[in-house]
Amino acid sequence: MAVYDVGGRSAIVSGAGSGIGRAVAIELAANGASVLVFDLNGDAAEKVADEIVSAGGIGVAFDGDAADPETVERSVAAAQKLAPLGIAVNNAGITGESNPIGDYSIASWRKVMSVNLDSVFYALRAQLPVMVGNGGGSIINMASILGSVGFPGSSAYVAAKHGVVGLTQNAALEYATQGVRVNAVGPGFIHTPLLSDDAETTKFLADKHPIGRLGTPEEVANLVLFLASDASVFITGSYQLVDGGYTAHLAMEKY
Ligand code: NAI
Repeated sequence: MAVYDVGGRSAIVSGAGSGIGRAVAIELAANGASVLVFDLNGDAAEKVADEIVSAGGIGVAFDGDAADPETVERSVAAAQKLAPLGIAVNNAGITGESNPIGDYSIASWRKVMSVNLDSVFYALRAQLPVMVGNGGGSIINMASILGSVGFPGSSAYVAAKHGVVGLTQNAALEYATQGVRVNAVGPGFIHTPLLSDDAETTKFLADKHPIGRLGTPEEVANLVLFLASDASVFITGSYQLVDGGYTAHLAMEKY
């Protein structure tokens, strides 16, 4: 487990009921943050909050849709009640259908854009002014390796994640002098319920990482914790990969 002090502040983690978000919520709480465990799946959020509390930390479940601007505003108010909001990890995301663009449904395009990109804008819009008022903070937006390269069949996901990287840079520029840092994280393929579980797909994806396997949620959470903490105080507007060499690999070979 990584150790970086994030005490004395609250943290919102969206999509914290499963996978990467769950690991991030647990890691932030273990290092002192009071964590709002925000998920569309209220039962999953409760479970993670219970896990945090059983381990001696502060975790409170928040049941709601990260793609709904009013809910996002409420999440900021709820976190402020725990402690001054100092950390936000905008992580909720979905994959959408897998189809070439000519066959890609407009409904899936809109859904993926709404959950994976609009939600990050709503979150930044609600979180940034409050963090400025609190004297500063650190926001981490969950992009993907697919925020910098393509993946056949996943146009909406790829476009949304590229958008998350651009939005992160803009937010960082606009708030750098006001004490709020904004960074994006680009995980390679990580073993979570988001991915199909069949052995053939897992091997296909694992082989694209020079390290030779998928990543774990905890490996992503270690990076997020560092970016959330004051140890990364000179880092803003960056896009940090945690990808087992995936993108370096793509530069070497034809896809
Ligand atoms: P996951 O499916 O394990 O967890 C996602 C969580 O988000 C679930 O608990 C789900 O209920 C919640 N959620 C979905 N829509 C929501 C909404 N509208 N509002 C609130 N909560 C919502 O997924 P995983 O793998 O942990 O992914 C987390 C993030 O990491 C996503 O943004 C994903 O795109 C990104 N990512 C994942 C990778 C992977 O290989 N698993 C690789 C790169 C990025």
